[in-house]
Amino acid sequence: MCKYFIILLHVISSFTSGERGDIILDIDRGLWLNDRDFEMMIKYSYHFSTCCNIFVNGTTRDIGTLFNLFIKIYQYEYTTGSIEYGCRGFFLLGSTGETLALAVGRVPTAVSTTEILIVVDADLRDDSPLLNVSLFQHSNVNIIARSGNWTLSENFLQPRMFKKVHRSSQMRHKTGIVDLEGRRLQVTTSNIAPFSYLSTTVNRTVNGIQGQFFVANDERELDGVEVKLFLIMAEKLNFTWMMRKPNGPYRHGRPNGTSWNGGMIGQLYRKEVDLAFGEVWLEYEKSQYVNLSVPWYEVWINFLVPRPKPTENVWALAKPFRLNVWVAVIAIVILESIAVWGKARINSKLPPRFRSYVNTLIEVIGRLVGTWAPRKTQGIRIQLQFWHFAGLLVVTAYSSSLAARLTTPDYEPRIDTIAQFVKANLTWGRERTPPNYRHYFDLNDPYAKQLSNGFLIETSQEDRQSKILEGNYAIIGKISHSIFFPEVNVCNSDLANYRVMRESTAKFFISFGAQSWLVPSIDTMMRRLTETGLVEYHLRDVIRRRVNGSLRDVFIEHDGENTNGPRALKLKPLGAAFIILLAGYVVATIILYFELKNKNKIDH
Ligand SMILES: *[C@@H]1O[C@H](CO)[C@@H](O)[C@H](O)[C@H]1NC(C)=O
Ligand SMILES: *[C@@H]1O[C@H](CO)[C@@H](O)[C@H](O)[C@H]1NC(C)=O
Ligand SMILES: *[C@@H]1O[C@H](CO)[C@@H](O)[C@H](O)[C@H]1NC(C)=O
Ligand SMILES: *[C@@H]1O[C@H](CO)[C@@H](O)[C@H](O)[C@H]1NC(C)=O
Ligand SMILES: *[C@@H]1O[C@H](CO)[C@@H](O)[C@H](O)[C@H]1NC(C)=O
Ligand SMILES: *[C@@H]1O[C@H](CO)[C@@H](O)[C@H](O)[C@H]1NC(C)=O
Ligand SMILES: *[C@@H]1O[C@H](CO)[C@@H](O)[C@H](O)[C@H]1NC(C)=O
Ligand SMILES: *[C@@H]1O[C@H](CO)[C@@H](O)[C@H](O)[C@H]1NC(C)=O
Ligand SMILES: *[C@@H]1O[C@H](CO)[C@@H](O)[C@H](O)[C@H]1NC(C)=O
Repeated sequence: MCKYFIILLHVISSFTSGERGDIILDIDRGLWLNDRDFEMMIKYSYHFSTCCNIFVNGTTRDIGTLFNLFIKIYQYEYTTGSIEYGCRGFFLLGSTGETLALAVGRVPTAVSTTEILIVVDADLRDDSPLLNVSLFQHSNVNIIARSGNWTLSENFLQPRMFKKVHRSSQMRHKTGIVDLEGRRLQVTTSNIAPFSYLSTTVNRTVNGIQGQFFVANDERELDGVEVKLFLIMAEKLNFTWMMRKPNGPYRHGRPNGTSWNGGMIGQLYRKEVDLAFGEVWLEYEKSQYVNLSVPWYEVWINFLVPRPKPTENVWALAKPFRLNVWVAVIAIVILESIAVWGKARINSKLPPRFRSYVNTLIEVIGRLVGTWAPRKTQGIRIQLQFWHFAGLLVVTAYSSSLAARLTTPDYEPRIDTIAQFVKANLTWGRERTPPNYRHYFDLNDPYAKQLSNGFLIETSQEDRQSKILEGNYAIIGKISHSIFFPEVNVCNSDLANYRVMRESTAKFFISFGAQSWLVPSIDTMMRRLTETGLVEYHLRDVIRRRVNGSLRDVFIEHDGENTNGPRALKLKPLGAAFIILLAGYVVATIILYFELKNKNKIDH
């Protein structure tokens, strides 16, 4: 094949000795193509490309002149003799249609951004093999010959055909917001709230492929953020459509070596459909197989986790003070009792009851908490005055803090990070297939990679509901525009005891998948829709109309707030007090027992 692309070395060599000025002299010898026209044709032919692959076959002098004229006019880099595949501009120059038609075989014509300009230094008949549309697939083509000029109709229209042109401006390729002239596009989508609410389908066979097609004649079904964006595109780009469901269990499908299996991406890959939407994530892996548009929004993958439950602690009475305060209180009691006891042993003026340490300790504690204590306090009156004052402060602080604490419930800690989720050993699941963990979780994170261990396939909504009732179950879903959308069917009552875990596991941009010839138009539409605020408008509008309050409520925390006013005290938080009381009774009973025994002995 290479020989078709060999540059006519002798043609070039005949010019390499001179400067470019010499070439222009050559052009002046009455070329059949006006160089002003040629310049405009080159400009219109290369809309996307900023480099060019050049092939020449032919030996006539006009070929040499045309080649030199081209490289003089063309402002960007060019390669000759070999194909630079990163470069989508192609210039083919030859003396017969047949040789050029063979050369086109090596051009990547399936890529819609390929731009080809062909110059035939001969008369071209309408039945020439070069004017065979099937040669050019999705590329943009202009042909200039001695007998006429042709342009291949736009790659987004079908059927494509060569049209004769008389003015160079007709060779301009249309791009961006174009008129598809009512072409019927095959579209695939699936029911994913809030992006698409289509659901009713009928079975049909279109283009030899059997599929389930959405009826889409119901106002309530033809709704969803992406559906709305799609309908605007259909109107602006002037196309009609048929929407079908992906066949098989997968929504988007999975890559399988060199091809893509199942789902909407599979349909796009096999070219059964022209456009795919329904939460298509913009990923490198997908873009290796199909073309994706610019994104229009982003979603976060999140879990709903059970709300923390209120807890009751027997030691609630100790809660008003931190441990260090308790230690300080005990320390001052011991210090004070030792001080008073020591003073009583030295100073005889102090009442004699202070000479016993146990009595002193009991009295010091009694005075601190403000219970009754003997009045005789000679010698330490001032000291005890301060002690009473300290007691007043400690007891007041304790009582007020206790009142506040005992009447508001205590809660378990919240589950807010992936690490806490893993430690809580929560399970989660969905119907049909497990998700693609690589996309849902960061598998390099030691905790995030353990999230997949909790996955269990569910058989039905009832199965899920029983798990929700059992507890220890998390609900997977996505957050978009501050609303949580569960990935599985759950009803409002199920969500009552759920809240959003703060940490997301992943984030994605959403785009549309499209055949390459449609991508420039979809991209332009997407940018316009974002810039004009229509994306934001439809997002808000659909959510306002379709979203249940409970999907917002999961963002509101219920723990730590006293929704029902102060509550009556329960036994358990007061446990510590009763334990002390019981201990006191036991001690008193034992003492009573020994006293009775002694009394009996004395009586005998
Ligand atoms: C031009 O193409 C023909 C085949 O169509 C080939 O025989 C010929 O060698 C080519 N010329 C050059 C200079 O490559
Ligand atoms: C166009 O080319 C295809 C193969 O590339 C061939 O099957 C078809 O017959 C050609 N059509 C005409 C009119 O030559
Ligand atoms: C091809 O286009 C050029 C530029 O518009 C024009 O000058 C020329 O007449 C056209 N050739 C034919 C045969 O129509
Ligand atoms: C859309 O395409 C149809 C069919 O070609 C055409 O009749 C109609 O004028 C086009 N509408 C617009 C707005 O361009
Ligand atoms: C339509 O096709 C699907 C699978 O392709 C099948 O499960 C379903 O029963 C069909 N529905 C009707 C009404 O034939
Ligand atoms: C790809 O999918 C086909 C069936 O669709 C299967 O036979 C084949 O083994 C798969 N290849 C790989 C590499 O998974
Ligand atoms: C479409 O995808 C192919 C490869 O998958 C890529 O070469 C091409 O540039 C893409 N086209 C557009 C318009 O993005
Ligand atoms: C976590 O739960 C699974 C099943 O639900 C159980 O088999 C496993 O022992 C639990 N692990 C821990 C650490 O509790
Ligand atoms: C809210 O959810 C309930 C049950 O999940 C459903 O029946 C109802 O239609 C929903 N309302 C809206 C506005 O979506």
